[in-house]
Amino acid sequence: MRRFLTVGDIGDLHAALAEAKEVKANPFNWQHLGKNKTIIIIFFNSSLRTRLSTQKAALNMGMNPIVLNINGDSWKLETEMGVIMDGDKTEHLREAIPVIGSYCDIIGVRSFAEFKDRKFDYEETIINQFVQYSGRPVISLETATRHPCQAFADLITIDEYKGQIKKPKVVLTWAPHPRALPQAVPNSFAEWMRAAEQAGMIDFVVTNPEGYDLAPEFMEGVKLERDQKKAFEGADFIYAKNWSSYEQYGQILSKDMSWTVDAEHMSWTNNAKFMHCLPVRRNMIVSDEVIDSPNSIVIPEAANRVVSAQVVIKRMLEKL
Ligand code: CP
Repeated sequence: MRRFLTVGDIGDLHAALAEAKEVKANPFNWQHLGKNKTIIIIFFNSSLRTRLSTQKAALNMGMNPIVLNINGDSWKLETEMGVIMDGDKTEHLREAIPVIGSYCDIIGVRSFAEFKDRKFDYEETIINQFVQYSGRPVISLETATRHPCQAFADLITIDEYKGQIKKPKVVLTWAPHPRALPQAVPNSFAEWMRAAEQAGMIDFVVTNPEGYDLAPEFMEGVKLERDQKKAFEGADFIYAKNWSSYEQYGQILSKDMSWTVDAEHMSWTNNAKFMHCLPVRRNMIVSDEVIDSPNSIVIPEAANRVVSAQVVIKRMLEKL
């Protein structure tokens, strides 16, 4: 594997889940692959889970992880081509990327949407420069439009918690938030769940208010139910997330607290498990009662971030 950006990069989902089980059961079995190999993980934005789980996955594989915080520890980097660099950016990505590539075997990058220009964000200008100029396999650790390590961990978690249900109903629901958040997590979740639906693993429904429809490329073939109650009926998994508007790009159009997932919402479901990628705003996205209930699986979901990252790193090391 040379890149991990979209669901298409993981290939067959049944095989990926089988590999995830193997890696989870025997995390240190492949340390020979990572011996004397280095992964540099680069953060343009804050992180708790991604930062720690990617390092832990690399350590499990016997690798040496190095973390670089852009704008904190390094020079400020210019990301746009063709600009006159007379501002506060000291170095261009065009030089920084191949330099970073020369120090490592694999690169991971976190770079959120900037919300200045939808076209710039949706063309994935930053991660694509890493793919083009680093000469190394590249892992998306959440970019402008996608968060594949999270979505893979989410699928692993659903597979683990579905029990005897052959084809669980999985619902992605918008929920309110005080700040404008990117669409990367719901985009990837929709992309991966649609692929899982096509593989016969789940039924998938998205529910969100008017004005919050995800980009058409992520909703192709996906069932959209505007009535949140109808969407929740019979659900086995509720995945809550806020996102800002795609149509009115990056805007907050509503903070309607009737969309907050509380005990009444969960009573409409088939005793559903509650999921969220974290960090979560309590009593905005989800009530204390729900996230603290036995049906909340947000902690094992976060723990599976090590597993998803390790499968990806393992596949990259196997192809070096
Ligand atoms: N879910 C997730 O990516 O968490 P962090 O932003 O803390 O890495």
